[in-house]
Amino acid sequence: MNDDDVVVCVCADVGEDEITRLVRCGHRTVEDLRRVSGANSRCGSCRDDIEELIAQETTAHPAVPSPVA
Ligand code: FES
Repeated sequence: MNDDDVVVCVCADVGEDEITRLVRCGHRTVEDLRRVSGANSRCGSCRDDIEELIAQETTAHPAVPSPVA
C-alpha cells in the first residue's frame, strides 16, 4: 500500500487504491474482493466502504472485462 493511500480494510491492510484497481479489473462484489485481496475477511466493519467504492467505480466505469483472478 502506498503511503498516501487511504486504508479501507484495517484488518487486512488493504487500501482504496487496491480496491479500486480490483474493481476496475471486474471484481465487483464484496465477496469477490474478499477472495482476491483478503479485504473484509475478519471483523467485517469495512463492508460499507467497500460497497461504496464498488458503486463509485461501477458508475464511473460501467464496462469491465471478466475477472481473471
Ligand atoms: S476492517 Fe476489514 S475486515 Fe476488519
